[in-house]
Amino acid sequence: MEQYAIKGGSPLVGEVEIGGAKNAALAILAASIMTDETVMIENMPDVRDTNVLLQAISSIGGIVERVDRHTVKINGSQIHDVVIEGDYIKKIRASYYLLGALLGKYKKAEVALPGGCNIGSRPIDQHIKGFKALGASVKIAHGLIIAEAEALRGNHIYMDVVTVGATINVMMAAVMAEGLTIIENAAKEPHVVDLANFLNSMGANIKGAGTDVIRIRGVSKLHRTEYTIIPDQIEAGTFMFAAAVTKGDITVKNVIPKHLESISAKLLEIGCEVEESDDAVRVVASRKLTHTHVKTLPYPGFPTDMQPQIAVALGLSGGTSIVTESIFENRFKYVDELTRMGASIKVEGNTAIIDGVDKYTGAGITAPDLRAGAALVLAGLAAEGFTTIDEIRYIERGYEDFPQKLNNLGAQIEIVDTDKALQKFKLRIG
Ligand code: EPZ
Repeated sequence: MEQYAIKGGSPLVGEVEIGGAKNAALAILAASIMTDETVMIENMPDVRDTNVLLQAISSIGGIVERVDRHTVKINGSQIHDVVIEGDYIKKIRASYYLLGALLGKYKKAEVALPGGCNIGSRPIDQHIKGFKALGASVKIAHGLIIAEAEALRGNHIYMDVVTVGATINVMMAAVMAEGLTIIENAAKEPHVVDLANFLNSMGANIKGAGTDVIRIRGVSKLHRTEYTIIPDQIEAGTFMFAAAVTKGDITVKNVIPKHLESISAKLLEIGCEVEESDDAVRVVASRKLTHTHVKTLPYPGFPTDMQPQIAVALGLSGGTSIVTESIFENRFKYVDELTRMGASIKVEGNTAIIDGVDKYTGAGITAPDLRAGAALVLAGLAAEGFTTIDEIRYIERGYEDFPQKLNNLGAQIEIVDTDKALQKFKLRIG
């Protein structure tokens, strides 16, 4: 089984180009089938999640032309099926965005109940509430969510919780509904705004994305567009924290600094230097990190997808820190793995109490989910000695060329698939 093999202890120094935002790409790829004309999407990350969603779109008759790793053309005119089941949805949660897209375009959709990273129960009640408010009947049978409507009519929908997925799914279902839809208590993440901008470039009429009230006036059809996806806020944040944990100096390029404000603020708080320019942010960590408290919140708060990464950094800081996870109920599974590397962390409910230690020591560990896996790579890069990480398929869902980008910064990490290859890595690196 493929593992990451890491020799830790080297400060990471240099520049890294950040790719397109996975969570914007997944929504935009799903929405691209809502027109019968051709859509071209650029700056798409070449990761497992986007590639699986493209397979799902092809499986129902969408015409997918891969122009290059990061550019794809999609035409939804030949779609012959509105049923998404089987592996696609189990492999990636975001296949359920096809529910909103197909319902919005064809007034019918059937999608297998989603899987996704096991970071919590991942309910979809708000998605269903939104679809029903627009006039769809929604039922769950044989493991499928079945949604259909004679017609979709705009409505005033109040989200009981701030949910990225439901905001995105209901937005797609509403763009061709009759009349005005208002989504209150909407998610404000950059990828929600990116989807709204994408749909508006196709002729939709969406206002207020990025605020907690989104107004969508239904249009009769959507048309072709060419669109470039925003940079990935979480990939950028992960590399920014790689500088913090390895006492390095990393410049993340091709980013939108405003999207990184809460991450930069926390890095400053724990003693890093942060320099922002138009489309880059430089993080320098020359001093021992200091402790702090952090609570994950919907955007513009500190992102839940950065919670494991900051915890790894706080585990190496002086003093005691507190990390509170307010979005998901099971997002500390990496703590047991980090403890094997010498971390001193106590989890009580949705709070982790972290007593900083002087160093991590390399160990054999397992990635429990996508972002925790990436955070454990950071721990391995900071640790003394060798670390191996199993289940790297989780990490490959959301990080393109992760080992290569890290090695370009001075890391020593590679994918090994046998004990022999691991021994060779250890001998070569020494
Ligand atoms: C999206 O998941 C992201 N995934 C997640 O990133 C991210 O952690 C999350 O948003 C929060 O930012 C994608 O975009 C593909 P939510 P999603 O609906 O949409 C509750 C990654 O690492 N909720 O905003 O599933 C839910 O239980 C992944 O890239 C309901 O109660 O998250 C959670 O507590 C991991 N009912 C909270 O809302 C619902 O109907 C936020 O969930 C929906 C959600």
